[in-house]
Amino acid sequence: MKVQAKFVTSAVAPEGFPPEGAPELAVVGRSNVGKSSLINAMLGTDLARTSRTPGRTRLLNWFDVASKPPMRLVDLPGYGYAEVTKQMRESWRPLIESYLTSRTSLAGVVLLIDTRRGAQDEELDFAAWLHERETPLVVALTKCDKLAKNKRMLEVQRAKQALGLTRPPLAVSALTGDGIDELWRMSLAIIAPRK
Ligand code: GTP
Ligand code: MG
Repeated sequence: MKVQAKFVTSAVAPEGFPPEGAPELAVVGRSNVGKSSLINAMLGTDLARTSRTPGRTRLLNWFDVASKPPMRLVDLPGYGYAEVTKQMRESWRPLIESYLTSRTSLAGVVLLIDTRRGAQDEELDFAAWLHERETPLVVALTKCDKLAKNKRMLEVQRAKQALGLTRPPLAVSALTGDGIDELWRMSLAIIAPRK
């Protein structure tokens, strides 16, 4: 899928969130899991900044996407990176929680998990928290290019079971484009659910 997209704004605090608008899909996951790369792969651009240094994205970044219907992708700061200062880590959580709990245009969350790491406590807690709040969730296992196909399938099943999902998570790669079309389909299904 080819779409036009543009950067809207960044924010470090709720005061800086842009006015509510098109339905938003928030891309969430551990630092370095590949959130910004995946957004770029979906948009066919390099609008979202990526890096080898974990903790690169410290802001929330909004991108307007001219999909049908239009939506916004939101690149959230990564959690769980041990080497950032404690103060920094403590400031992230309330910021992300404040976004996820207060944003009325939030339509759903794309939770990313590194295929080779699998779901850990943070992901299990987070998925349960979203489930409780009835927030639509798509789970994608990133960097699947790093595993052979049979091992990928094993990880997909493992994550499905660990997270108690009704459908298997997607295996995606920003590098090869694997799973990106399917991710679009799931994303659009959240943005424009059939009545
Ligand atoms: P933070 O903003 O720091 O939380 O990181 P992020 O989750 O946005 O990750 P980012 O997209 O910056 O990618 C982190 C690293 O993983 C970079 O070195 C990317 O090149 C690499 N990477 C991302 N996606 C893929 C992928 O699909 N395959 C492979 N092999 N590497 C990837
Ligand atoms: Mg990033």
